[in-house]
Amino acid sequence: MSVSESSFIRALNLEPTSKPPIWLMRQAGRYLPEYKAIRKHYKNFLDMCKEPKTCAELALQPIERYGLDASILFSDILTIPDAFNLGLFFSEGEGPRFANPITMPSDVDNLNIFDVNDLDYVFKTVEETRKVLPESLPLIGFCGSPWTLAAYSIEGAGSKTFPRVMKFLQLHSNSLEKLLGLYADACFVYLKQQVLSGINVIQIFDSWADLLNEDQFEKFSINPTKNLVRMLKNDRVTKTIPIILFEKASPIEVTDIAFDGIACMSLHHTDSLENAKLKFLNSYAIQGNLDPNVLTKSDEDINRRTREITSEMRGYPGFIFNLGHGITPNIHPDKVQIMIDAIRNFED
Ligand code: CP3
Repeated sequence: MSVSESSFIRALNLEPTSKPPIWLMRQAGRYLPEYKAIRKHYKNFLDMCKEPKTCAELALQPIERYGLDASILFSDILTIPDAFNLGLFFSEGEGPRFANPITMPSDVDNLNIFDVNDLDYVFKTVEETRKVLPESLPLIGFCGSPWTLAAYSIEGAGSKTFPRVMKFLQLHSNSLEKLLGLYADACFVYLKQQVLSGINVIQIFDSWADLLNEDQFEKFSINPTKNLVRMLKNDRVTKTIPIILFEKASPIEVTDIAFDGIACMSLHHTDSLENAKLKFLNSYAIQGNLDPNVLTKSDEDINRRTREITSEMRGYPGFIFNLGHGITPNIHPDKVQIMIDAIRNFED
């Protein structure tokens, strides 16, 4: 079998599959003991991301454990702002931080010119991952949306409310738009190089869509993402690669966001599967959307919710089972197996 015959690619092409293909956002990570065994050898997470062979091994871990239907490049969305010299580091238990965040418009004007070769370690990771994956298993490449990258770059760290970004947006919206343009261009070149290195599908993560109101969302999140998708679809190398868009709890209903060039919408667990199913039939694949928190509940609860989703989407050409957001470190790996068994053994 070739990658194009895999159930994941078939679903992205809106072709029927006998069972829904399954993968999980953040499937390689701290909930897996085998991940932690490797992670403990690195003080800084970013140093680990710069070791292509190690990253290939990490990407393979959830495939070997669960036989998932797609693999995702092991890296991070924040490699791009790091390549703009914002100085990304991960301090223990605190998540990502930037040594040189963007604090004023002149910081945007003075950003260095993006050189995709600075991210060579990511492209080497793609090559190494392809070598160790089963030949027909699709490999997903990814980037953050320009807005989500800008949010971290201006805040300088993760946050619940991102007050610095929201203030920057109010005071310096032109400068923010300039930054979003630079990030969209960089994401395009970055994704193109991922494709040339061997990825089969692209996912764009807009993890901070929920910070914005409807007007802001249109202007600062969706428009730059549309520009990025337009560039990808106008390029000879990238135009045939299916694109999945994840909008986390966006202020606009997911059914009103999907646009030309997107193959699949990845639904957050607050999005309505029922509305998406009605609106997207025969035009977009749907990925989602079990609340990751369900995986902390009893086996019966996991079975029930998983079966509800599988049943709701049964017969929908282009359904991919996933979580509504990334899997979290507090989830026991056996609970993931319960969920997978419920999907694969589903009969109604
Ligand atoms: O299997 C995979 O998905 C692994 C590849 C991957 C990582 N991050 C590895 C990672 C992917 C696709 C991401 C995407 C990512 N990174 C997003 C978008 C998805 C989402 O969750 O919304 C975002 C917002 C980030 C930024 C980021 N990276 C944060 C906020 C953190 C710290 C908190 C957290 O979620 O763990 C990271 C670190 C990170 N990226 C880890 C991993 C495995 C944990 C690092 C560690 O082991 O200490």
